[in-house]
Amino acid sequence: MSDSFSVGVIPGDGTGPEVVREGEKVLAAASSIHRFKLDFVDFDLGGRRYLETGETLPTSVLEDLKKVDAIYLGAIGHPDVPPGVLEKGILLRLRFELDQYVNLRPVKLYPYVETPLRDKGPDQIDFLVVRENTEGFYVGSGGFFKWGTPDEVAIQESINTRKGIERLLRYSFETTRARGKRKKLTLCGKTNVLTYAWDLWMRVFKEISEEYPDVTTDYAHVDAICMWMVKNPEWFDVIATDNMFGDIISDLGAMIQGGMGIAAGGNVNPQGVSMFEPIGGSAPKYTGKNVINPLAGILAGALMLETLGQSAAAKAIEDAVVKTLPNLKSLGAGGMGYSTSEVGDMVVRNLEAGSSLR
Ligand code: IPM
Ligand code: MN
Repeated sequence: MSDSFSVGVIPGDGTGPEVVREGEKVLAAASSIHRFKLDFVDFDLGGRRYLETGETLPTSVLEDLKKVDAIYLGAIGHPDVPPGVLEKGILLRLRFELDQYVNLRPVKLYPYVETPLRDKGPDQIDFLVVRENTEGFYVGSGGFFKWGTPDEVAIQESINTRKGIERLLRYSFETTRARGKRKKLTLCGKTNVLTYAWDLWMRVFKEISEEYPDVTTDYAHVDAICMWMVKNPEWFDVIATDNMFGDIISDLGAMIQGGMGIAAGGNVNPQGVSMFEPIGGSAPKYTGKNVINPLAGILAGALMLETLGQSAAAKAIEDAVVKTLPNLKSLGAGGMGYSTSEVGDMVVRNLEAGSSLR
């Protein structure tokens, strides 16, 4: 395995650049301690570029992004850009063009982090959502008929391919096995109503499960999953689901793990270029104030290192974040008791202290 990686950085809009700055600081420290090289290359994409030039993701930029080892994203979103333009033009386009078919969302409650779930702690909230990231309702299939008339019809279709389901589920089984926790994979669907899509998902799930006798399988409807994520989150180890359900349940997951200050995610192409991001948006009202919480961005960096095969460094960053948490008053922007850059510095110090104990 190579020990030198090029990382395409998209700082993006709002507080994205402030978060990414702390993330890069921590990643640079981790790479020097763990002896590998990271080369950061900035890519100017986002609302500001769109408003200035009308461009979302120019083809030349996309071609350059196809050549990096991983992408590190701050946030995309601008109050002056209509909804959908940047999401479809940048974020979703990157997912599709780079075929990042897995959306990984660890839902992990760290010690000292407050969860809205009374009586639940870190032992009960530790699971992984594996969301299909290139199909379903997100392909944009459909259209209008008799638009703008009293008779108009809007059709939005969910596309589910056997190949797409198979690769997502195979990845889910492999990950459940590799996590080595409860080795339980729960499929989250809606077989009682969406009887075409979920019939196919279910058949493929059963077929592939034969290859993984050591993994316990379970199925639950998406609405029931929402109840149980709140009532019995300890039931879950890995949850596999489609694009739309995954979008919804992973935000529910982000809340029970302590909110946007701590939730990180990855858009993964196991054979290609993957992209990592904090789940929170660009938080325009906090821009430039040095108050946004950088921990989600820092943990997204750890997830990136994990995917690049640098597990020891990834674990060290996670440990350094865990050591930082007791010092913070809260995880909300402006409520940490420290500035964005002070929190980044603290994580770096804890990382360095951790490495000297080795
Ligand atoms: C996410 C986001 C995106 C999605 C939006 C911004 C298009 O909510 O990454 O979950 O719906 O996938
Ligand atoms: Mn979402």
